[in-house]
Amino acid sequence: MPLSIAIDGPAASGKSTLAKALAKKYGFIYVDTGALYRTVGLHVQNLCLSSQDKEGIIEALPEIHIEMRLQDGRGEVYLNGRPVGDEIRTPVCSLYASDVSKLPEVRAFLLSLQRDIAAKNNVVMDGRDIGTVILPNADVKLFMSAAVAERAKRRWKEWTEKGVTMTYEEALEELSRRDENDQNRTVAPAVPAPDALPLDNTGLTAEETVAAADRLIRDRLGDRLRQAATCL
Ligand code: DC
Repeated sequence: MPLSIAIDGPAASGKSTLAKALAKKYGFIYVDTGALYRTVGLHVQNLCLSSQDKEGIIEALPEIHIEMRLQDGRGEVYLNGRPVGDEIRTPVCSLYASDVSKLPEVRAFLLSLQRDIAAKNNVVMDGRDIGTVILPNADVKLFMSAAVAERAKRRWKEWTEKGVTMTYEEALEELSRRDENDQNRTVAPAVPAPDALPLDNTGLTAEETVAAADRLIRDRLGDRLRQAATCL
């Protein structure tokens, strides 16, 4: 049975940085499930539908074909046969992703894709509901958090470096809206699984966060990790 490490938590809590680093360290596949919701959001945005247009979004699902192809140790997302790139990372697409992810139809649409990849590969999978819904039997579940002011600062820095014009207050507003959406939706809210290990990385560097997570994972998995990991 392949090993699975689930990493959940709010936006900009450092999930993807941690998940990528752990996947590289252990030789596991990195699966960014947010990219799947972002891809649905992008398609909806390209159709010029409002992110609140529930019926329109559900009607569009049959024409959306999303795949994850394994490339360079990660699942790369393809939308209708084409690889998706940074166009899913814009602030507008983030809100589309958060809005479409509230719909049970969208979540059901993306469920088997996520489970299939974990059934066949050792994975580090990040998202909001990996430990609660997608992989309830994951071998390790981490739930990350960080103070919202620090998360907003990280997000603002990331976007500014990419050349997006945005103030710190706008980054804070966008994150707060997504937190509200993601934590309070009725289906698969972004909450810790009862058996998730909390990891608050406020004030920690990326390296310190990896070291803290690595300790938790080794404690939990012991020899099973040494046997599965190709890079230890
Ligand atoms: O992780 P991210 O910021 O790229 O995710 C974008 C949005 O997708 C997020 O606001 C909520 C949604 N999402 C989700 O509902 N469930 C997941 N497993 C991953 C992301």
